[in-house]
Amino acid sequence: MVKAVVLGAAGGIGQPLSLLLKCNPLVNELGLYDIVNTPGVAADLSHIATPAKVEGFLPPDNGLAKALRGADIVIIPAGVPRKPGMTRDDLFNINAGIVRDLATGIATTAPKAYVLVVSNPVNSTVPIVVEVFKKHGVFDPKRIFGVTTLDVVRASTFVSEILGDLLLASSISVPVIGGHSGVTIVPLFSQSSHPLPSDFAKADLETLTKRVQFGGDEVVKAKDGAGSATLSMAYAGAEFASKVLKALKGEAGIVAPSFVHLSSDAAGGEAIRKEIGTDLDYFSVLVELGTGGVTKLRPIGKVTEYERSLIDAALPDLATNIDKGVAFIQSPK
Ligand code: NAD
Ligand code: LMR
Repeated sequence: MVKAVVLGAAGGIGQPLSLLLKCNPLVNELGLYDIVNTPGVAADLSHIATPAKVEGFLPPDNGLAKALRGADIVIIPAGVPRKPGMTRDDLFNINAGIVRDLATGIATTAPKAYVLVVSNPVNSTVPIVVEVFKKHGVFDPKRIFGVTTLDVVRASTFVSEILGDLLLASSISVPVIGGHSGVTIVPLFSQSSHPLPSDFAKADLETLTKRVQFGGDEVVKAKDGAGSATLSMAYAGAEFASKVLKALKGEAGIVAPSFVHLSSDAAGGEAIRKEIGTDLDYFSVLVELGTGGVTKLRPIGKVTEYERSLIDAALPDLATNIDKGVAFIQSPK
């Protein structure tokens, strides 16, 4: 029996993500928590003819704890999205406190659940969740994930467009490493399962790289004040959750990209730090998943000179974003 919980379930991402989870045959129970509207969302979803039992919760009467009780996987898309002209870091002041409070709820009620963090800025909100879990003595680096799947989904889609075959999109895999904002997003097209055309110009590669790095801005601009990516994010979040659930159920060979803590030497964290040439505690890498969460962090492997320059450019911003998240819990102002 698997219970999935969505925190922020009534939002732009939360609703379609909850729909996709309701349709996932691996989910038996779905808990929906938000500060508004979850009874309606739950009632609506509950009429869908799939096995998952759905229940909605609001803050009164310990709603958060009730939603989280017995959770195996918790996905957090709660918080405010960007408007044009904003960076993801501009969301920190509001979203950091929201994520801290929700993480406290998980650490006290469902400390063994897998936690998938969607709320931005992911480079800071993941460290916030980790620090809250450390404070409660329940931190396990194998179970806390920053969801960066949308970057990979975008990279795969754009490569399929270049190759002129949209049918390929879902089978193309491009590792995207680093973090989840602007220059911290580092797509490794040299490692794409489907290589770019051999005559692909350097200038075009730079344009493609920028498009992945700033794909979020493309959507924010097009939505013109009405928020950021929701539907593609729900798709990406459901894809990542599905991989975690398949691994949890014992399926072998599951690999997914995620922004994770590099603390586990056994899983290859130290080797990755050496490869990158950094002492950062977090990085998005390809993660091998098993029944207990992360089993191995895959080495980054061979990169081109251009990709190496992108990794170097990502490190300062990443360090600042991570430190800001850690400080928010360790030394709150
Ligand atoms: P939204 O405003 O449509 O929905 C957010 C929901 O969170 C709302 O329903 C709101 O009521 C709820 N909420 C606010 N405070 C809460 C609390 N304390 N507890 C529970 N729920 C609470 O926003 P959205 O478009 O769904 O985006 C949500 C977040 O996801 C944003 O921070 C956005 O930047 C981020 N995001 C991340 C990625 C990614 O790739 N990781 C992609 C897209 C968006
Ligand atoms: C995205 O990449 O679409 C999300 O992180 C939302 C945003 O603010 O761009």
